[in-house]
Amino acid sequence: MDTAQAAEAVFKTRILPVKTTNLGDFDQLTRLEKWELPRDQDIIQPLQQAAELLKKSNIPVGFPTETVYGLGADATRSDAVKGIYKAKGRPLDNPLIVHVCDLSMLRELLAPAGQTNGHSASAPNPNPNPIPQIYWPLIMKFWPGPLTILLPNPRPSKLAPEVTAGLPTFGARMPQSPLALSLIKLAGVPLAAPSANASTKPSPTTAEHVLHDLDGRIEIILDGGTCQVGVESTVVDGLCNPPIVLRPGGVSIDQLRECEGWECVVKGYKDASELGSTTPRAPGMKYKHYSPKAKVVLFEATLQPATKPATSLGAGPLSTSDGQVPHIDLELLGRPARIGIVRTRHWDKWAGFHHAPDETQDRSTTTHVTSSHDYPQNTSSQLRMGKLWQSGSRKTGSQSTEGRHLADIIEISLGSETKDIAHGLFSVLRELDQRNVDVIYVEGIEDEGDIAAAVMNRLRKAASIVED
Ligand code: TXA
Ligand code: MG
Repeated sequence: MDTAQAAEAVFKTRILPVKTTNLGDFDQLTRLEKWELPRDQDIIQPLQQAAELLKKSNIPVGFPTETVYGLGADATRSDAVKGIYKAKGRPLDNPLIVHVCDLSMLRELLAPAGQTNGHSASAPNPNPNPIPQIYWPLIMKFWPGPLTILLPNPRPSKLAPEVTAGLPTFGARMPQSPLALSLIKLAGVPLAAPSANASTKPSPTTAEHVLHDLDGRIEIILDGGTCQVGVESTVVDGLCNPPIVLRPGGVSIDQLRECEGWECVVKGYKDASELGSTTPRAPGMKYKHYSPKAKVVLFEATLQPATKPATSLGAGPLSTSDGQVPHIDLELLGRPARIGIVRTRHWDKWAGFHHAPDETQDRSTTTHVTSSHDYPQNTSSQLRMGKLWQSGSRKTGSQSTEGRHLADIIEISLGSETKDIAHGLFSVLRELDQRNVDVIYVEGIEDEGDIAAAVMNRLRKAASIVED
């Protein structure tokens, strides 16, 4: 935690592990209508502790969803919702997503305050089908899952006004994680939940990420392991014509277009690179978000013909032949730079920096990389380290030359599959931050069609400089 944050630390934050086996799944449609709690007490116990805290206090709880970790609070109580903003350190500007455990909970929210959507004789059901028809194909296909739909917020509403930031609609989502569904069910109320990061930081995909950002600011983080999707939910508005995607996420626009009524869905958001000039983007700009401490430089991918060599992307911009490290003032730094490289599909090793010098060539003014470690981190990502040198003299025969140490390089490959890139993206930005790099060069991917649009949207927001 940063020092400024630590000053406000008032709680002893605990991570409570939750057994995620036997938590239940969605093999029956009835679960969509009404979520049933798991019977296993070992599973339920930590969830009950968290649910009690949600009911009795204004301290939000960190919990996993299939997209990212959320910071949840009772969406019907203003003080509880304010607790989210306080813990995150974010201004009350952006509306929050309301998480429900089943359709019956959602219907209750669509009835005005003071009315119920239940089927009791004393309170006749005013509208048995309050969920707009346009959303049914999406609900049947993608719920529970990474999709948020905008719904009309009734007047008076059961939701705290801080949830909707004064808008006439609210965003609703039924997460896929059985842990999240069970927590909501035990709390007995819908949970407003943004991502559980400190404001401006990359979203958390593990309980440890949440602890890193919010240690001392909350009491409980439920640990359900690493989030499967890795980027947030897609936010759609079907109340306008044509329907629009407000935020790209875990469900792609192509998947939406396959649903009845959504064939003509349009992109309703603009990426940072579409909002004006592309280079350079100063740190601290309005669109900076999802940002690690280090400066992020994003190299936009252009669609490569299949025959073109894979290494062509990015090889140019990063090559350094003058003893300079792009985007870093070495003289000002007064020490070798620390460079992080996030590789995806095309870049060759070291993302275009020259490899160790060719024995026969004059390298007196060029740079080269020597590699020290080379080890696999997990199945989809690899981390390797090296040093970037500027040769000090002509290299003769097999004799090695002493040169100026320009930079230490930490390169992480996310693999080439979009789902692996999405899954590991926020995590590698955080990892490179912890390794105190000065700059992170990220290789973008083509954002056509699938969840790649979400990856590029987040990267463009994280990047202080965009190059293409
Ligand atoms: O995957 C997710 O959606 C995660 C997990 C925790 O569920 N949550 C999340 O929440 O990303 P948050 O607060 O970081 O993002 C909420 C997004 C924002 O882009 C916000 O503008 C949009 O949803 N949103 C919420 N309610 C809205 C409304 N009534 N109208 C327009 N946009 C809305
Ligand atoms: Mg967020």
